[in-house]
Amino acid sequence: MSDKNPTGKILVLGASGHVGRPLVKALRTKGEAVKAASRGGQPIEGAEGVAFEFGRPETFAAAFEGVDRAYVMLPGGYVNSRELLTPVIEAAAARKVKVVLQTAIGVDADDSIPYRQVELALIGAGVPYVILRPNWFTDNFLNFWKPGIDHAGALAVPAGEGKSSFVDARDIAASAAAALTSDRFDGRAFNLTGPQALGYGEAAEILSGIIGRKVGYTPIDDETFVGILTGAGVSEDYARFLAMIFHPVREGWTAGVTDAVETLTGHAPISVAQWAQDNAAALRA
Ligand SMILES: NC(=O)c1ccc[n+]([C@@H]2O[C@H](COP(=O)([O-])OP(=O)(O)OC[C@H]3O[C@@H](n4cnc5c(N)ncnc54)[C@H](OP(=O)(O)O)[C@@H]3O)[C@@H](O)[C@H]2O)c1
Repeated sequence: MSDKNPTGKILVLGASGHVGRPLVKALRTKGEAVKAASRGGQPIEGAEGVAFEFGRPETFAAAFEGVDRAYVMLPGGYVNSRELLTPVIEAAAARKVKVVLQTAIGVDADDSIPYRQVELALIGAGVPYVILRPNWFTDNFLNFWKPGIDHAGALAVPAGEGKSSFVDARDIAASAAAALTSDRFDGRAFNLTGPQALGYGEAAEILSGIIGRKVGYTPIDDETFVGILTGAGVSEDYARFLAMIFHPVREGWTAGVTDAVETLTGHAPISVAQWAQDNAAALRA
């Protein structure tokens, strides 16, 4: 099958976010017309901006205007994925818009998992689709765990000795760009991983080398973790949700390595060590 040459625009939700921003950039580099959605509706990476808000369906029509493909994801901090994403899937399906949906690795383990229910709604929606299920983002070391490294000199998460094949947000974005600009991957789901599984202790050693001082790893229990996060201003609901999704990490279920990034993008995924080098200045700041 060949790559499409569609005429419509691509709607990117969460366009100023960790995956959204590099995705907008990648699509613009491919010459696509992009509508970059966020609550503020400002232009992003040179793309036209559009105001869109989950839970406010009155914002959907303007966002989908002129669109034939959409990247649908839920920003971090929200726990009600089914309630917020299903109406977006319905809005896309009503307009015959292809959807590339970002969920998370492992959600297909049980059909009662809310993200899996969103996947099933998309599969049954009658439009072309691709599902991307990323593993834990490598970028979390900067975006979520850096304050702990700065204050306590250690990663403190309830991961036990479990390993994860962390995936770089740039690879998720590149995978999404491939899925949005070709019909070769339609009707499939991809578990996106990095090139190797690492424990948090091993990741801490890599970060130590880049930051230039010792970063430790302190495996903590769920309650301690929830306490740290709520103390840093995270809502209790979301903190408990994050604690819950460390259970599969402790069980070793996030350690698998796939070739999905390479299949979609044609290049090998970025390692944690490479990510750390590329983000050295921000990690040291
Ligand atoms: N982090 C991980 O390790 C991991 C692993 C697997 C899967 N995931 C999945 O990836 C998702 C997060 O991806 P990400 O980190 O790329 O997202 P993100 O950076 O948290 O997304 C932020 C973006 O969403 C927009 N946004 C925030 N609230 C909004 C609202 N109510 N309505 C419309 N737009 C809104 C923001 O713009 P404005 O604030 O300007 O609106 C910004 O553009 C999570 O939901 C999770 O399920 C994450």
